Amino acid sequence: MPEQKRFLVTGRNGQLGHECGLIAPQGYDLVRVGREEMDLSDHAQIAKVIREVQPSFILHGAAWTAVDLAEEKEQEAFAINATAAEVMASCAAEIDARLAFVSTDYVFSGEGDAPWREDDPVAPLNAYGRSKLAGEQAVLGILGERGHVVRTSWVYGRRGNNFVRTMLRFMEQGRALKVVDDQLGSPTWAGGLAVALIALGLGENAPSILHYTDGGIISWCDFAQEIRACGIRNGLALEESSVNPCPSTEYPTPAARPSWSPMHFSSAWEGLGITQSTWQDALQLALPLLLRENDKVT
Ligand SMILES: NC(=O)c1ccc[n+]([C@@H]2O[C@H](COP(=O)([O-])OP(=O)(O)OC[C@H]3O[C@@H](n4cnc5c(N)ncnc54)[C@H](OP(=O)(O)O)[C@@H]3O)[C@@H](O)[C@H]2O)c1
Repeated sequence: MPEQKRFLVTGRNGQLGHECGLIAPQGYDLVRVGREEMDLSDHAQIAKVIREVQPSFILHGAAWTAVDLAEEKEQEAFAINATAAEVMASCAAEIDARLAFVSTDYVFSGEGDAPWREDDPVAPLNAYGRSKLAGEQAVLGILGERGHVVRTSWVYGRRGNNFVRTMLRFMEQGRALKVVDDQLGSPTWAGGLAVALIALGLGENAPSILHYTDGGIISWCDFAQEIRACGIRNGLALEESSVNPCPSTEYPTPAARPSWSPMHFSSAWEGLGITQSTWQDALQLALPLLLRENDKVT
């Protein structure tokens, strides 16, 4: 009988890592590690965990995700997003494991008019994007066809600081919100992304770079309006709140944000049994789960 596949997920307490732990493993064992077991700044610890767990597939979801802080701490962001990924890829190569590095639309310039394709030129517009791109290059350079880069955007899960939870919290307070309408992209439900990444681990012959988001191109303001409507449909008292469009210039941030984030949903997902949900369907599915998880959002 062939040996059962063993998957190692990093970033156990992050949005994606948490969702991975909620999928009942079928055809694989799952080991999730957080900062406690594997601190990415400790290279010896990365090697030790990988040698002990002996995974056939590593889903590397842990990352420095503080986009604005990365502007002043670029070296630290690189240490986690690039150097640690390089170490992990080398350890994966030693035991012949495959590795998926979860990356971002921020590797692109943020200026475009068609959804980014996997082989479009990269040109990150901030330090976080540069650090993730360096991680991508390290993983693919070391692992070749046993390495995968999965780029996603606008991720929200049951836990963590994300746009959906933040909006719901403000809306429950009855606030009149101003939300930018000149940054366009596609939201991604972390639960769906987790399923896709597990399918990538179970599948074979996947390409080096894949893009995964929910379907549709919207602004943050569109997203906020639908979050409010969906919250009301789910019984939340959000009627007093309102959502109004504003330009990005009203919310200057240390790190530049892309105006154009949409990515082409990779055709390879179909071969892995993964189809794309619309962002509305994904939100409709996710919101009750998110509310149940947190009992109350505030
Ligand atoms: N969120 C988005 O909108 C988005 C968009 C595009 C791509 N991505 C990528 O998708 C992946 C998953 O994102 P996410 O939203 O799940 O991120 P997240 O919720 O911020 O989780 C990141 C995880 O990384 C861990 N981590 C950070 N520094 C670490 C270190 N030095 N050692 C060990 N663990 C460390 C954190 O641990 P602690 O919990 O202990 O802090 C956290 O659990 C990341 O690779 C991210 O770059 C995210």
